[in-house]
Amino acid sequence: MRILLTGVPGTGKTAIAAELAKNFGFERVEINAVARKAGLVGKGGVVRLKKLEWELKARIKNAKKKNLVVEGHLGCEMRLPLDVALVLRCDPKKLKVRLEKREYGKKKLQENLLSEALDYCAVMAEGNYGKVKEIDTGKRGLKETAKLLLKIAGGKKKGDGVDWGGWLERTLKV
Ligand SMILES: Nc1ncnc2c1ncn2[C@@H]1O[C@H](COP(=O)(O)OP(=O)(O)OP(=O)(O)O)[C@@H](O)[C@H]1O
Ligand SMILES: [Mg+2]
Repeated sequence: MRILLTGVPGTGKTAIAAELAKNFGFERVEINAVARKAGLVGKGGVVRLKKLEWELKARIKNAKKKNLVVEGHLGCEMRLPLDVALVLRCDPKKLKVRLEKREYGKKKLQENLLSEALDYCAVMAEGNYGKVKEIDTGKRGLKETAKLLLKIAGGKKKGDGVDWGGWLERTLKV
């Protein structure tokens, strides 16, 4: 199975992909690393998306293993030839705790929380891949999430339904 893991920074793509590689033998492709290696990251971190999509398609074509996990938030901005697209989600309240451990400025932190609350990656991925599946990485441990994710990807379990409207209302206070 060839899986895309996308989602807002901090939702757990790299952690889950590592888990799939370690415990389930998946080959891993980190989208950000491919972009950097191919020299596609410009000033201010702007990425040349179309070129990145070509690079990734070639990388996917040359994959050695049958089970492949491609991970990165930019995965939602393009259409990659994979079997299933999964959007990792996390309650903004918990995502804030995760992102506060990083050296993000206030603006970047706010932008990411808002992207999550407004379903940005899910909406984009749906546009590019059609139906997408979602999993909440904020309510289970890493190992349990990885196992469940494989079941969701394989159609054996339903994905999680998420709605961060309550967080948005409380945060905007209107
Ligand atoms: N159930 C879970 N699934 C995934 N990550 C989890 C889970 N529970 C806790 N975490 C933690 O959340 C953090 C997620 O960070 P990670 O770097 O994997 O995010 P990311 O989506 O790859 O971000 P970026 O887009 O910036 O690369 C890790 O520290 C991970 O250990
Ligand atoms: Mg990552």
